[in-house]
This record gives sequence, structure tokens and C-alpha cells, in this order.
Amino acid sequence: MNVYDSSRIADMLQNLGYEEAASVNQADLVIFNTCHIREKAAEKVFSDLGRLYNLKQERLAQTGQDMIIGLAGCVVQAEDEQIAKRAPYVDFATGPLTYYRIPELLAKIERQRGISLIDTDFPAIDKFDYLPDNHAHGGCSYLAIQEGCNNFCTYCVVPYTRGAEFSRPVEAVIAEAKRLVADGTLEINLLGQNVNSYHGEDAAGHERDLAYLLRRLSEIDGLERLRYTTSYPADVNEDLIACHRDLPKLMPYLHLPVQSGSDRILKAMNRRHNRDDYMRIIDKLKDANPNIGLSSDFIVGFPGETDQDFQATLDMVNYVKYIQAFSFKYSRRPGTPAAVYENQVEEKVKKERLEILQNLLFSYQLRFNKDSIGKTMPVLFDMKGRHKGQLIGRTPYMQNLHAELGKEYLNKIVSVKITEANTNSLSGIAEGL
Ligand code: 5AD
Ligand code: SF4
Repeated sequence: MNVYDSSRIADMLQNLGYEEAASVNQADLVIFNTCHIREKAAEKVFSDLGRLYNLKQERLAQTGQDMIIGLAGCVVQAEDEQIAKRAPYVDFATGPLTYYRIPELLAKIERQRGISLIDTDFPAIDKFDYLPDNHAHGGCSYLAIQEGCNNFCTYCVVPYTRGAEFSRPVEAVIAEAKRLVADGTLEINLLGQNVNSYHGEDAAGHERDLAYLLRRLSEIDGLERLRYTTSYPADVNEDLIACHRDLPKLMPYLHLPVQSGSDRILKAMNRRHNRDDYMRIIDKLKDANPNIGLSSDFIVGFPGETDQDFQATLDMVNYVKYIQAFSFKYSRRPGTPAAVYENQVEEKVKKERLEILQNLLFSYQLRFNKDSIGKTMPVLFDMKGRHKGQLIGRTPYMQNLHAELGKEYLNKIVSVKITEANTNSLSGIAEGL
């Protein structure tokens, strides 16, 4: 979502006449888009800002040109007072729901330089109505359909920083998708913090769910691939599962975070599903499409997690055999209920558990990648490789793949025979060109 927000901010600035600078020293305006999900990401903002401020002063001394420093994203929403105290030189700061007002903030700065502006409203309007049209920047595009979260997992800041759940109307989403496809997009990734709780209104004023939206989107000619992320297990309904059986454009890959395999911990996390609910959903998805590959997020060392609870998470991994996953040590976030739970897990234990979990996850990821060798897969190439004559693309399973291909194949789907595989990427040879 942050990558998406950053690209929308860039689109807005382009409309104001800004162009991308070749390097930070040459920039008249720098905006940091920030993440508050774990402490490490949030703290990094302040050290990066300090470095940027030094650069700004050097530039001013050397060239006489000033640099406007702006801050966007969830750190602003959560730490507005800290920003004013720790980085008073920031010219403006805007939360994830108000960045559509950046042009206004920039205009104010022009008028009253030196006054810092912090905008952390939860506006009653839909920011998407105020942003410029989302244009495709290549073969893969993000399309935000839902934002915010009402789940209040006890460890998570998102409900506080991105606010309550909101779904965009069906027709606005379809129109945006058609525009992206007309611009050359082949793949659309529908975005939302809780994307499968989508409940946008259709033209007749009826609420429609994600399954309805996927069926409508898959009718768009020229659109080849659909994905959605991130889903919440308790909101996976039968219709959505059926989409994985019925819609060939829906990629056979799903990121469905479980966080923990232990019922006790899931309860303490305030998740609305238990271990068994999650496994039944996985079974049904695999019934609907036996080729589906799953991915998840995990948190180790949540307050009160015992060796037994952790073992239940490892058992879950062995059951599902994830093809990719993200795993994190629990991070205490101020203002969230779990931050003040008394039974916090020692850092050393968190570290050990993370290492054990990641080794297991990587072994399944590597096995899946190795099993791809010899298969031919459609790959959407959307990036140039590091070497000349090389492109990087994505398989249906979100695996990164390198191939020797001319840039005329950029933003195209090409059949590739997989020849090599390691944990993080594949190589292959284009076929039938
Ligand atoms: N500590 C560690 N990981 C967290 N996540 C969210 N909040 C925290 C936290 N306080 C992880 C969850 C979520 C992913 C985006 O980040 O696994 O799914
Ligand atoms: Fe955070 Fe996701 Fe839980 Fe919402 S569902 S509170 S975004 S972890």
C-alpha cells in the first residue's frame, strides 16, 4: 500500500510540474513516505530525516538552493508530536488519508516558508475522488479498492493510523481498471489492508463483495492477470473461494496471513479465526484450485507465547507448506493493547524463534522453487535486469525470474522454461518467440 501511495504522490507532483530528480542532492522537494508497523521502520524515519537535513544545509551552502522536506504515511499519523519535537525542520507532514492535500500544503509553504504544517485529519471524504487518475507505469499496476481496518488485532497500529474500513464504489474501481488496461497494464493487484472485506456499492446502491468485483474485472478484455492483497482469513467467503476455481485470470497465489498457529495466541491477538478455521479455508482453497500456492505473515514472540504455542506455528507451516512468507519478531507498538501485556517475551527468545521459523519457511520456499525447474510458465516481464539484455519478471506464483530477453518484451507475458532456482529467484529460457 505504501508503494501505491508513493506512486500516487508522484503522479500528483507530476501534475504540478515537478519532475523526478536524478539524485537526492538535486531535489528541490523530498517526501518520505513512512511505515509505522514495527518499531524499526518507525525509528529509521528519524535517522533518515537527520541525514536529509544535513544534505539540505550542504546544498543550500553550495548552491543557494533550498530543499523542501515533506513527510507522509503512518508515522505522521501516529507521531505528529514527536515529529514536531525531533524534526522541527520538516516543512510539512501528512497522514495516509490526507496526502491528496499535498498540492495545498506546498502552496501554503510557498506563501509562508518556515512554518511547519502537520495534517493528520481523518477526513470524511474519499481521498480517491481528489487524486489524479491512476496511470499505469508498466505491465503491473496496483489498484486500491479498500482502505483501513476495523479488526483491531491487539499488536497492530493500522486501525489507528489508516482509520476505519472504507470501500470504493464498484463502478469507480471498474473504470480505473479499464483505464489502467488501456494504458498497457496486463496485471492488476487489488489493494486493501483487509481487501476481502471489500463491500463497495454498485450503481444500483447494492453492496457487493470482492468475489463480485473479481468476476466483473475478469471480463475486461486485455486484462490478463488479477491478484488481491492482503486478505483476512475470517472474511474469506465461499464465493471468493469459488473465484479461485472459476476465474482463469485470477493467479493461483494467495497471501493469507495467519500470524500464529496457536489458538491461545490467536485469541490474545484478537484474531477472529482459530487454527482450525484457517486450515479449513486452506483445504477449501486447495479443493477449488489444487495448484494454488499460499503465503502468509507470522509474528513470533507475541506476549505469552510459549514453546508449545511456537511449535503450533511450526506445525501450521508444515501443514500448509507455504511457497513464500514474511515473518517478524513481535514489536511493541505504543497505544496498542498488547504493548502493555505483562508477559512480554525476551528478545533472545524472539530471535531464536524467528531463526527457526525462517529456516523452515525458506526450506519450503526453496523446495517449491526447485520443483519449478523444467516447467514452462507464463512470465510477465516488468523490469530491466542488472545486465544488458536481461529482463526480470514474475511467474503466476510471484516468483522473481530472470531471463535473457530484449527490451521489446518489457511489459509482455512470455512463456519461459525454468532452468535454475534458488530461494529468492528463478532463471529461465524464453520459448516460442
Ligand atoms: N509486531 C510485529 N509484526 C507486526 N505486524 C503488524 N504489527 C506487528 C507488530 N506489532 C506484521 C503482521 C502483519 C504484517 C503486515 O506486519 O504480521 O500481517
Ligand atoms: Fe492490522 Fe491486519 Fe489485524 Fe487489521 S487485520 S489490525 S491491518 S494485522
